[in-house]
Amino acid sequence: MVHAPSWRIVAASLFLVAGAGHAAAQDALSAARGPGHAAIASANFLATNAGFEVLAKGGNAFDAAIAVSSTLAVVEQQSSGIGGGFMALLHRASDKRDVFIDARETAPKAVDMKVYVGKDGKPNRDVSTNGPLSAGIPGEPAGLAWMAEHYGKLPLSVSLAPAIRIAKEGFQPDKRFLGAIDDRKDTLARYPASAALYLPDGKVPAQGWTLRQPDLAKTLERIAAKGADGFYKGETAKLLVSASREAGGNWTAADLEAYKVKEREPLTVDYKGYRIVTAPPPSSGGVAIAEILNILSGFDLTKMDLAHSTHLTIEAMRRAFRDHNEYLGDPDFVKMPLDMLLSRHYADGLRATISPDKATPSDLLPTSMAPEPGMHTTHFSVIDADGNMVASTLTVNLEFGSAFVAKGTGVVLNDEMDDFALVPGQPNAFGLRGALANAPEPGKRMLSSMSPSFVLGANRTAVIGSPGGSTIITQVLEGILAFVDGKSASEITAQKRYHHQYLPDRVDVEDGVFDAATTKTLVDMGHVLRNRSPWGFMNVVTWDHRTNTLDAASDPRRPSGLGKVQ
Ligand code: DON
Repeated sequence: MVHAPSWRIVAASLFLVAGAGHAAAQDALSAARGPGHAAIASANFLATNAGFEVLAKGGNAFDAAIAVSSTLAVVEQQSSGIGGGFMALLHRASDKRDVFIDARETAPKAVDMKVYVGKDGKPNRDVSTNGPLSAGIPGEPAGLAWMAEHYGKLPLSVSLAPAIRIAKEGFQPDKRFLGAIDDRKDTLARYPASAALYLPDGKVPAQGWTLRQPDLAKTLERIAAKGADGFYKGETAKLLVSASREAGGNWTAADLEAYKVKEREPLTVDYKGYRIVTAPPPSSGGVAIAEILNILSGFDLTKMDLAHSTHLTIEAMRRAFRDHNEYLGDPDFVKMPLDMLLSRHYADGLRATISPDKATPSDLLPTSMAPEPGMHTTHFSVIDADGNMVASTLTVNLEFGSAFVAKGTGVVLNDEMDDFALVPGQPNAFGLRGALANAPEPGKRMLSSMSPSFVLGANRTAVIGSPGGSTIITQVLEGILAFVDGKSASEITAQKRYHHQYLPDRVDVEDGVFDAATTKTLVDMGHVLRNRSPWGFMNVVTWDHRTNTLDAASDPRRPSGLGKVQ
């Protein structure tokens, strides 16, 4: 039987006993040597190969990550780029340090919430997702320069070289890239520099077309020569600000100069003998994953049939996403009850509200406050020969971000402003409804779902992540559960997926994820199932400490990806 839980009382009392730990998982990495060879999995074979090229020049995983990121910025611009941002988890083998690099975009100083609200009081999606007003100040160039300076072994001129070469010489965009141009053609056509780049002769190009990007190559060369200053000051900054303002944007030189990378302490959660190291705010991903795992740790899912273990997982997702909407934002601007949300006791309280065989309607879970996300954004994973590791998720938000290329730079600006709660309580492009914690303010970072994660066990380690908007969180969660169950990198990337995010109150399912009997049981329990496609682009590398071998796999749903061990 389901009782309407008195959330606020539970929440308030549990806050007092927050922080109790769990028996620590064994940190295999503290004992491990490097594997002696390297593994990279990314969404594009040119990017994976660029990573190996830089490793062969004497680089480490961090230099490889710079090469992979910058190459993706050239060959997979619908998903990420130097006009966007990223969140990366690094593990440095020499001192066993885990650090989270927050290169998320920030709101410009002149941000004005009114421009994102239509006459009807609803979000104005055109302004929040298209053109320069939808763009936050980019973080990726600063993040790459930071990684080179603090963690890499090679200068940016070496780690950016593959990207610069491909931008100059050109490459043949794959079907997915061309399909994204087709999806965004009307908006790309609005802006002359975007149309000139992606719509030769005013049309969506056919397969076999070569895309050369001399302006982007020059922009990357300025970063290679001057580091972050090559983007946030001087020629590039001038071009970005004038292009933005000419097209009705509000960026200033001061906004670009003020951009700062933040290093943050990753979140950790222990689950069934594994330690998961994951993304802290301003990502909501780690908090949600930790909450879900803490709830699930009170059940033995392996003793249940698929319908019942799925039901409990959905219920845990529902509860974690409620908190996501309610409490989370940029930690530099808002106070969040993280001790409460991450505590085992809080999870015990949430677990007690789950009926073993009935869906809880989301309406019964009180709160102050959902469209079809495509699969843009990109994630890659790296382990090098010394045991350094990188999990990095990078984004411009929707396909081709704002679809606005800043003239003279070759840079596609993101449309990350839509990740703010621009109209509190109203859903964003991923159906996520934010509260004041995620309202825009000058210099503030918009909440993200990006969840780059490490899963550390006594015998095995995984580096994992995915694109997918709000489904990033549940995809990574399901990847973690599969790894804990002993699955390999390719089994994890291939497994079928499902997702619940509290509101809308339904389970999104990939075709074939459940057999007919499981589907029937879930529906009888009160779950509303809805088929959905596409489902992410997960790139996973794993390390088996017993045999000291690596494995790498790229999501089989997308043929352009490459997981490689060498
Ligand atoms: O940071 C975020 O959560 C979003 N901007 C990610 C967007 C994304 O994954 C797009 N793909 N579906």
